[in-house]
Amino acid sequence: MGKIVALCKRRGFIYPSSEIYGGINGFWDYGPLGAELKRNLRDAWWRAMVHERTDVAGLDASIIMHPKIWEASGHVESFQDPLVDCKKCKGRWRADQLPETKCPQGGPHDYTEARPFNLMFKTSVGPVEESASISYLRPETAQAIFVQFLNVLNTTRLKVPFGIAQIGKAFRNEINPRNFTFRSREFEQMELEFFVKPDAFVREGERTVAQWHEYWVEERFRWYESIGLPRAKLHPRVYEKKELAHYASACTDIEFDFPFGRQELEGIAARGDFDLSQHQKFSGQKMEYFDEEAKARYIPHVIEPSAGLDRTVLALLCHAYDEETVTDEKGQSETRVVMRFAPRIAPIKVAVFPLLKNKEVLVTKAQAVFRLLQKHFVCQWDDRGNIGKRYRYQDEQGTPWCVTIDFETLEGAKADAPEFGVKAGDKETVTVRDRDSMKQVRVRISELVTEISKRF
Ligand code: GAP
Repeated sequence: MGKIVALCKRRGFIYPSSEIYGGINGFWDYGPLGAELKRNLRDAWWRAMVHERTDVAGLDASIIMHPKIWEASGHVESFQDPLVDCKKCKGRWRADQLPETKCPQGGPHDYTEARPFNLMFKTSVGPVEESASISYLRPETAQAIFVQFLNVLNTTRLKVPFGIAQIGKAFRNEINPRNFTFRSREFEQMELEFFVKPDAFVREGERTVAQWHEYWVEERFRWYESIGLPRAKLHPRVYEKKELAHYASACTDIEFDFPFGRQELEGIAARGDFDLSQHQKFSGQKMEYFDEEAKARYIPHVIEPSAGLDRTVLALLCHAYDEETVTDEKGQSETRVVMRFAPRIAPIKVAVFPLLKNKEVLVTKAQAVFRLLQKHFVCQWDDRGNIGKRYRYQDEQGTPWCVTIDFETLEGAKADAPEFGVKAGDKETVTVRDRDSMKQVRVRISELVTEISKRF
């Protein structure tokens, strides 16, 4: 983990928030590469959950909402962790995550009884600070989906079963943020609320609530594989009956093998009609759906796949990190650090280099190639230092392909490259170097976009 955290800082994936002021515990900033990586992941989730389906619509709701929502959802009353203090050093911990260290005041810590600590961040809305103006930063994105259920239903042509998807910030005043970004106080969630018929209305050939739950667990495993996390590192954790919230009929977590242990990436819960019913009760608005086929009104049940965007970024960083020993032609060995991201989520897809930065003809040609590729892929220009160093730099960023414009581009290829239809003497070709195999091949500039697209 130490190496991964250091690489994230050194290369601009993730920085501590407010670092020049000494940082602030539980908050992180994504640097240039991290911002691209996170965006690719967000887009991949949205594409799979919204664009590639006909039964899901998107939502982008406000972070601060009516405070009654959090009463209805149960968060005001019970979104809490047990907190203990040390009477000697005044340190505070979650009662189930006590430190192994000794008390700085000497000897073991002297703990108080555990007491409940609500994890919601309070804020006040408007210019007058009074109890009536208290609201909260949302601790999950899900509730906005439930409270907009009727609006989405009435403004789309969707029919049950259908889903509403949202990606956005959530805030929890975690007692002990830890494991880098894994448990933060500000993070992003990617949540789907998928509304289904209660079992009493399910007809022959339709899925029951339990079958929809199974369906979504499998869909979500497949999505993690599609972004490059192998099945072997992903594990279902099926909740036992006694672990479930009173309204839930099932919950399966998808856990990932992080360097600090097997931990939750996502939870897929069957929440019954709890949330819609609670909002019906607290708002006085009917949250029912009229099922034309069944000629009946009911409150739909919900299956909720709820994933953490930051946690998934962390899983990708952990899985991608690799070190290998490479030996050059002179027999010198060195350690190569390489981020083996799946190309579709890699922050930068192609790096473009002129072999030498002080040869104008090379630079001009390389600029033309850069402009050509930039229309299709996220590209990076680099003309600093020797080519070997530039490759290593791109390896640490996880760039799958490097394109070099060299003298052969202008004077003609030295050898045939039959695989790519290049003959010795052909001009207008470039070197394409592959991050994983480190193999270099000659490709025609006119074929570059097709060749690179093929490799995704
Ligand atoms: N609406 C259901 C819900 O919020 P949750 O298990 O509390 O369920 C869902 O959160 C996901 O959000 C988790 O699986 C995790 O990926 C992410 N998450 C929760 N708390 C987090 C935190 N403090 N830091 C980073 N990610 C967090």
